[in-house]
Amino acid sequence: MNVQGPSETAACPFSGNLPTDPTERAAVLASLPADHVGSGSVAENTEAPIDPPVADWVTIPELHRNPFPIYRRMREEAPVHWVPAVNRYMVTSYAACHAIEQDADVFSANETGSLMKRAMGHSMLRKDDPEHKVDRDSYGSTLRPGTIKKHWAAIFEENNRKYLDELVAKGPGADFVWDYAAPYAAENLRLICGFHNSTQEDLQRWSQSMIDGTGNYADDADVWAKSEAASAEVDAAIDDMIPYLLKNPDHSLLSGLASLPIPLESVRANLKMTIGGGLNEPRDVLATTVWALLSHPDQLADVVADSKLHATAFEESVRWVAPIGMYPRQTTCETVLEGVRIPEGARLGVVLGAANRDPAVFVDPESYNIHRAKKPHLGFGGGQHFCAGTWIARAQVAQVAMPALFDRLPGLRLDPDNAAVDAGWVFRGLIKMPVLWD
Ligand code: HEM
Repeated sequence: MNVQGPSETAACPFSGNLPTDPTERAAVLASLPADHVGSGSVAENTEAPIDPPVADWVTIPELHRNPFPIYRRMREEAPVHWVPAVNRYMVTSYAACHAIEQDADVFSANETGSLMKRAMGHSMLRKDDPEHKVDRDSYGSTLRPGTIKKHWAAIFEENNRKYLDELVAKGPGADFVWDYAAPYAAENLRLICGFHNSTQEDLQRWSQSMIDGTGNYADDADVWAKSEAASAEVDAAIDDMIPYLLKNPDHSLLSGLASLPIPLESVRANLKMTIGGGLNEPRDVLATTVWALLSHPDQLADVVADSKLHATAFEESVRWVAPIGMYPRQTTCETVLEGVRIPEGARLGVVLGAANRDPAVFVDPESYNIHRAKKPHLGFGGGQHFCAGTWIARAQVAQVAMPALFDRLPGLRLDPDNAAVDAGWVFRGLIKMPVLWD
């Protein structure tokens, strides 16, 4: 069976715009100008299906250090591999990742044995429609563009001033990630969630401890202990806030959830998933975008000269280094994905970090280039689970933080004597980024 599932078109202009039907998709790709389509057609699946090649040469330390050469080799061989080191089928072509996002009947988000469910509870991210939709709808308008414009934008600006002041007070040599991007993103998320009884430091600790739990494949007891402690703290903070927010409603997620007939277990799980997914990604994309621009002074000059390009620089950064590099799905039946046979119950890794650098869609995909032809990237996912915080991330990073940064810190530059370090593959970003300014 070929994968041509029912498709819910993603709402985002940057995601999900290629048709799911292989014939239609081939027609769209063929219609793209030749210089915009690299070699390796994504839809040449008229031959008999193959079994997935085994990529026993892939190692986790190498993925963590720099996954992109690995992804390049995998994409050139086949769109799907069995990877013993990660105990999953890794899906690396754009077309295959996109097809998965559009077919939740075959590629379920409700993975069995999910560590995320153990660490955070059963959130919307691990449910399929119709159960998923109930949870997703429960988030109401908190994360939507109208509420951002009317309410959150001013709060993000105030938070940005505060954490830029703190960065300036630290002085040149400060770390862009830990002295600015992380507390800024955490404080924004604290207010979005409605944790008026907690600090941004709490949010950072909760987020990291629970994320470590979701990735605890080694079953390390210490990691579980920290993750469970963070989860219990979040439960207590929610229990504490709900009565207050019922009397004093605001625009936060928790305030909206407090008055809905949603089981407390779902509220807790969804908030924990949002703490895990709504903090590190804006932090990472902010640092990656600034790092990329500081490493490409010609593109930085273009952005500074034309403020509309902040949004373009942000989006190119999400394509170039997808902050969520891989997420899981599980097949509900035997299937054929872009010519590769996959058994029922197979655990897949949808590798957005690889799909976003597929030369079948992006010219010179390994380069950061804000002037590249606009194509839909997959960095925010697609289909039912298309990122609910896309507009929040764009607002806090591209609209608020970036223009203010380059204005406030003239001569902002990387420290030539103390190099920035990036790492990760399931989540990827800068883990160290010392900066200087005039
Ligand atoms: C640049 C920043 C961000 C990126 C790249 C990103 C990426 C993603 C991706 C790829 C997914 C889908 C994962 C899957 O299908 O398994 C997702 C889902 C989600 N994201 Fe984001 N995200 C970002 C920021 C945010 C923010 C700031 C928030 C909240 C404040 C947020 C909330 C969510 C939620 C609630 C979901 C689950 C949606 C659902 O299951 O229907 N995200 N995100």
